[in-house]
Amino acid sequence: MGENKKVILSGSTVTGDLTLGNYIGAINNWKKLQEDYNCHYFIADLHALTVQQDPKALRERCFSFFAQYLALGLDPEENTIFVQSHLHEHAELAWILTCLTPMGNLNRMTQFKDKSAQTKNINAGLFTYPVLMAADILLYQADLVPVGEDQRQHMELCRDLVIWWENRYGEGSLKMPEAYIGKAGARIMSLQDPTKKMSKSDENEKNFVSIIDSPKKIQKKIKSAQTDSDTVVTYDPENKAGLANLLTIYSVLSDKSVDEICKDYEGKMYGHLKVDLADLVVETLKPVQEKYDDLMKNKDHLEDLMAKGADKARVRAQDTLKKVYETTGLIFRR
Ligand code: TRP
Repeated sequence: MGENKKVILSGSTVTGDLTLGNYIGAINNWKKLQEDYNCHYFIADLHALTVQQDPKALRERCFSFFAQYLALGLDPEENTIFVQSHLHEHAELAWILTCLTPMGNLNRMTQFKDKSAQTKNINAGLFTYPVLMAADILLYQADLVPVGEDQRQHMELCRDLVIWWENRYGEGSLKMPEAYIGKAGARIMSLQDPTKKMSKSDENEKNFVSIIDSPKKIQKKIKSAQTDSDTVVTYDPENKAGLANLLTIYSVLSDKSVDEICKDYEGKMYGHLKVDLADLVVETLKPVQEKYDDLMKNKDHLEDLMAKGADKARVRAQDTLKKVYETTGLIFRR
């Protein structure tokens, strides 16, 4: 099953919680993606170690993230969902690729420059972060990798690595991946700064609704969402970006068109719309939160699902690692 489909691979670091933007992206895309592609999703817990973590909190966050994906409806039967550190192949391939990566290329990574400027004690893992990411991708012979703008340079390094590899060892063991630009769906923007995307790693909590925020928190965040001083509810993303964002969310969650919604609020204030939208978001996320709570109550079951995902992922990972060992002159263990 899924053998002839192209492979999509996507990793997620465990900072922040998934947002309403992720929810909307998920309901719009996941079903279709899982029909068309052989989808691999993983929790990048090894990447999380590049910054200092409290061990207990990290473990809890990994469980939570895994549960959040499942609660959003990612189906572990139809997709391969796993935890990065459960496959030692990631670290092994990362080491081999590290030995192929020129220092100079890593020195040029803007994310490293940004992050290391903000951190006092910089570790080598932060520096080689992009190589581990390349290993994640190449291990599964991924065709397509959905990444945001901030990960483009890392994607380029991954593609460079395939070229360096082929220059040294010849073609055949690693597949050249491409960045996957999904169809432009509804773009959900930050609640306080509607010019930028809603992001789970935003340092200002008021900018996003997390899928596991309490109803009270959701209501507060939506009511305080930035709008303009006009009073008429119209869809005008140029001049009324904040309101347009709320209307987009409303439209996606209610299945009503933006025009219909504007009509419904004729002669009413923005406040009315915000109150109703907040209720709608709370109602929408209710089943997600119930599922999440159930999953989090049973860690044993979660660990079983993680193990099943890892078993599925291991088939491809082993296949690649074997080729890599043979190509580089290492003896592949029996
Ligand atoms: N670096 C990615 C991020 O911060 C997460 C990630 C790790 C990833 N490995 C990956 C994404 C492999 C895609 C493919 O978002």
